[in-house]
Amino acid sequence: MKAIHKFYQKSWQERLAILAQSQLLSDDEIKLFQVNGHQAELFDSLIENYVTDYSLPQGLATNYVIDGHEYLIPMVTEEPSVVAASSNGAGLVKRAGGFQSHITERLMVGQVVLEKVAEPAKLKATILAQEADFLACANEAHPSIVKRGGGARFLEVRILSESEGLLSLDLAVDVQEAMGANMLNTMLEALAQKIRQELGQEVLMAILSNYAVHSLVTVTCEIEPKLLAKGELSGEEVAQKIALASHVAQLDPSRAATHNKGIMNGIDAVVLASGNDWRAIEAGAHAYASRDGQYRGLSQWNYQDGKLHGSLTLPMPVGSVGGSIGVIPLVKTNHQLLQIKDAKQLATVIVAVGLGQNLAALKALVTDGIQKGHMHLQLKTLAVKVGATQSEVTSLVAQMEKAGKRDENSARQLLAQIRESRGN
Ligand code: MEV
Repeated sequence: MKAIHKFYQKSWQERLAILAQSQLLSDDEIKLFQVNGHQAELFDSLIENYVTDYSLPQGLATNYVIDGHEYLIPMVTEEPSVVAASSNGAGLVKRAGGFQSHITERLMVGQVVLEKVAEPAKLKATILAQEADFLACANEAHPSIVKRGGGARFLEVRILSESEGLLSLDLAVDVQEAMGANMLNTMLEALAQKIRQELGQEVLMAILSNYAVHSLVTVTCEIEPKLLAKGELSGEEVAQKIALASHVAQLDPSRAATHNKGIMNGIDAVVLASGNDWRAIEAGAHAYASRDGQYRGLSQWNYQDGKLHGSLTLPMPVGSVGGSIGVIPLVKTNHQLLQIKDAKQLATVIVAVGLGQNLAALKALVTDGIQKGHMHLQLKTLAVKVGATQSEVTSLVAQMEKAGKRDENSARQLLAQIRESRGN
């Protein structure tokens, strides 16, 4: 393939024409890019080298009652079972009185990393003695946030390596309703400049931290065991098994990674639908899962005093304004649907979905296993994959379930039979 010169300076149509000439894609494939470019004008100015819109399904999770308020929660995901499982987990909790949330603070943090520090302890003391000056400098770099009631709140200094002369100045900022990434980076760069000029100290970098431990959100629930009974297993047995599964995720990083993946199935889907940065939330979640040096499950389930107690705490520094929120029309609609009044409320909704999703996964895993519930949805995906039209999917899935088949070949054969019997 020939190198493309200044692809970013081309128009959308020119880019598609270049792709057509490249012969990497067929005419039909280029057409697919073309017809999917529904928001070409907007997206072309959002990212570089735009070629098409990549869409994912959005569903609504039902049954979420959080702090006494019932929500319809938009989730964007390609995984067939996620929305169904989420609504199912939330339904169990709804019958038990719903989720409760707890938030004590919502501050974003960032760091200025200093290098070649000759006397780290001395520099740490110098910076801390000037904390008020540093906070004022940060606020001057972004005065509008101070007018809105936010601004720099405190700083901390950590010696990262005495012998290597590495030190981190951590700044905590009240960013009000925003995600605050740009705001924080502007403030941190102003601090970096001040450190260079006034302290003659070399700065390695200045950047926000996704380890947002000053934006922790906890969501809890309590479930009476009778709601958990399944098949042969009594509610108490299921509750005890869920608690044991949660314990295993505390002991074993192999299981913890999958346990947390299940939580993030729900969290990412809502973060994405709400126009927030899901990579930031993922990074923060996994760092938080390793906070004591071992990677562990993020949620805790305990069977105590005759009830199953669930709890999930996560850094959740999402915004309710800014970023793509005001730009992408569907994101605006999703905020409208959620009826959230502020960023804290959005954060509680997201963490509740993580806990609901986790409950559904653990309950399935310790009872029927995950495949039984997934099968129907996976067969639907398989039906679409082998070319079933919307009107054929239901009968093909029914035929496959009846025949106990789940492979692609059988799906094709059964689809052919359905078509034959319908005379097409
Ligand atoms: C699948 O996407 C998620 C699960 O593996 C989560 C879990 O194991 O807890 C079912």
